[in-house]
Amino acid sequence: MNTSPVQYSSTLTEETLDLIAIALSQHGYIILENALPSKLVNNLLIAATEQAAQFKPAGVGRDDQHQLNNIIRTDSILWLTTSNPVESAYLIEMEALREAMNKRLFMGLFDYEASFAHYPSGAFYKKHLDAFKGQTNRVLTTVFYLNENWKKEQGGDLVIYDTKNDLSLQVKPEAGTLVVFLSDEFPHEVKPANKDRYSIAGWFRVNNSSLSRVDPAH
Ligand code: OGA
Ligand code: MN
Repeated sequence: MNTSPVQYSSTLTEETLDLIAIALSQHGYIILENALPSKLVNNLLIAATEQAAQFKPAGVGRDDQHQLNNIIRTDSILWLTTSNPVESAYLIEMEALREAMNKRLFMGLFDYEASFAHYPSGAFYKKHLDAFKGQTNRVLTTVFYLNENWKKEQGGDLVIYDTKNDLSLQVKPEAGTLVVFLSDEFPHEVKPANKDRYSIAGWFRVNNSSLSRVDPAH
């Protein structure tokens, strides 16, 4: 009997990847509904809730930092790893996205890191940028939602500020919706919801290695 694990391969089609690349080059962002199979979305939600005890308040540092973080964000996070097959499946999808953007847009994306985020009722993440120009190697942000049948009145919108065009976009955190945007161009915030809200935030990075510094550092 063959007991080797089933090999997962990306479900993102060439057409979808073309669409993402075109949107990123024209607007710097895309909001894509039903981006991944609902079975995977559901398994990711199960994986997140099953590991509830492992989630840690986001950005925990020294005590004073922690206090400051509580003013900015009140969610808890858990980093995805390849040791969990469901998380691995998501990372395989993002690897396909990385390769496709490098091929189509020459972005030089080097690696990817992602974490589950749990926003309990009332939790928020105030307006912020994921990266500051020239100061980081995070260049492309992904946010993926795991909340089935989310109702508008339940809140929890992601608000993306398109400062160049002086407009803002409200994204409902509905299961299957994938948001991709340039990390240093779009301030965004998470509005409080009136129920538990789960997402996966991730960042593609460029390699900042130099002769004097090896990246990633261990
Ligand atoms: C983040 C973030 C958005 C969301 O973690 O940096 O902006 O909708 N998350 O969960
Ligand atoms: Mn963010």
